Amino acid sequence: MTTAATKGLEGIIAGDTQICSVEQGALIYRGYEIHDLADHATFEEVAHLLLVGHKPDAKELRFFKDELIANRALPTQVIDYLHGAGPMLKEGTAVPMDVLRTGVSILGNLDKDSQDNSPGANLRKAKRLTAKIPTIIGHMQTIIDGKGLIAPNTGGDANLCHAANLLYLMTGAKPNAEYTKVLDVSLILYAEHDYNASTFASRVISATLSDMHGAVTGAIAALKGPLHGGANEAAMDMLSEIRRDIGPVNDRAKIEAWMHKAFADKRKLMGFGHRVYKNGDHRAPILHGLGRRVAEQRGPEFVGLFELGERVQQIMNDEKNIKPNVDFPCGMAYFTMGIPVPQYTPIFVASRITGWAAHIMEQHANNRLIRPIASYTGPALREWNG
Ligand SMILES: CC(C)(COP(=O)(O)OP(=O)(O)OC[C@H]1O[C@@H](n2cnc3c(N)ncnc32)[C@H](O)[C@@H]1OP(=O)(O)O)[C@@H](O)C(=O)NCCC(=O)NCCS
Repeated sequence: MTTAATKGLEGIIAGDTQICSVEQGALIYRGYEIHDLADHATFEEVAHLLLVGHKPDAKELRFFKDELIANRALPTQVIDYLHGAGPMLKEGTAVPMDVLRTGVSILGNLDKDSQDNSPGANLRKAKRLTAKIPTIIGHMQTIIDGKGLIAPNTGGDANLCHAANLLYLMTGAKPNAEYTKVLDVSLILYAEHDYNASTFASRVISATLSDMHGAVTGAIAALKGPLHGGANEAAMDMLSEIRRDIGPVNDRAKIEAWMHKAFADKRKLMGFGHRVYKNGDHRAPILHGLGRRVAEQRGPEFVGLFELGERVQQIMNDEKNIKPNVDFPCGMAYFTMGIPVPQYTPIFVASRITGWAAHIMEQHANNRLIRPIASYTGPALREWNG
């Protein structure tokens, strides 16, 4: 006889971790608070912190960056697959998250360490995945746009940091300092979040002693959903829908009417709410501020988008007391930078790969199979021939 389950495992402590603490009071990566990291660190430093376990000194950072740069290029098998996926992306039977998931799976098939779960092999695989995922995203985008791949032999420009290189691979243009900063900070904010759904999925998979590429492939599938990472795309789609319905002016009465209908239809507003942060997500104002500054440089159309978002936030707060999560400003910030909406969640992967890999390594280092039990609510015992 089992007792009743806690729906969605809310509030259940499912394991220990030394990587991250998610609390209403603060978001902390290995002892460093998120505002501190967003203000003073780069994504590469945060990636080193998460994967290797400590803040890098100058020499370690140079070495780490060089390793990432050296591993950016994709094997021809993955490039061939991306070309083959072009028609599926056009037809809509696949979206970029699906193609990225398969691309990562093929990388596993080709990785000489793929079946080795030792700490050394796992770290090597983690660095290779961190280096190559942006290249998959970039090449996929130029295939969607019908353009040639950017720097397929090197996976980009060795003079560009991780964030700038990702934008370069997607567009062929070197991004300015403001765009690079917004993307870099968003990668820092997205990098890690303890036992969120995709990370927990990756821990469940690795706890069977399955391999890192398999665990990351599963995690990508979990992140895709709009209740999790897919919310950054869904939030922007929702704002575009509001804009289409109410017209170009941010009329408060029209926005309210749109939202009241959404509430009456029991719609979830994408980019709002959080399982842990009931009083606001630490990451959201950081990205909102940076994104808005870029919008102000880009002009009234983009400022208008942020003003719409701010009104939606205000109404949601006044009427439901529900705050935006990081995906809400992310949608607006990436849109302002001209990033195609279906690539928002893949870019989330380009960041969260570091958190997932850190958790997979932590799980392998101190493993026990993760196997909870269910409370049975099906039919009572009966006879097949009865
Ligand atoms: C994130 C999320 C899945 C958390 O879900 P959860 O912890 O299970 O919270 P619940 O769904 O139980 O929400 C509690 C209440 O707030 C409401 N609520 C929560 N998020 C809401 C949203 N985005 N829009 C409208 N109502 C929302 C629920 O309807 C529920 O109301 P009720 O008690 O009257 O039924 C949920 O807030 C959500 O679906 N948000 C939209 C998707 C999103 O932005 N995901 C990214 C998360 S970082």
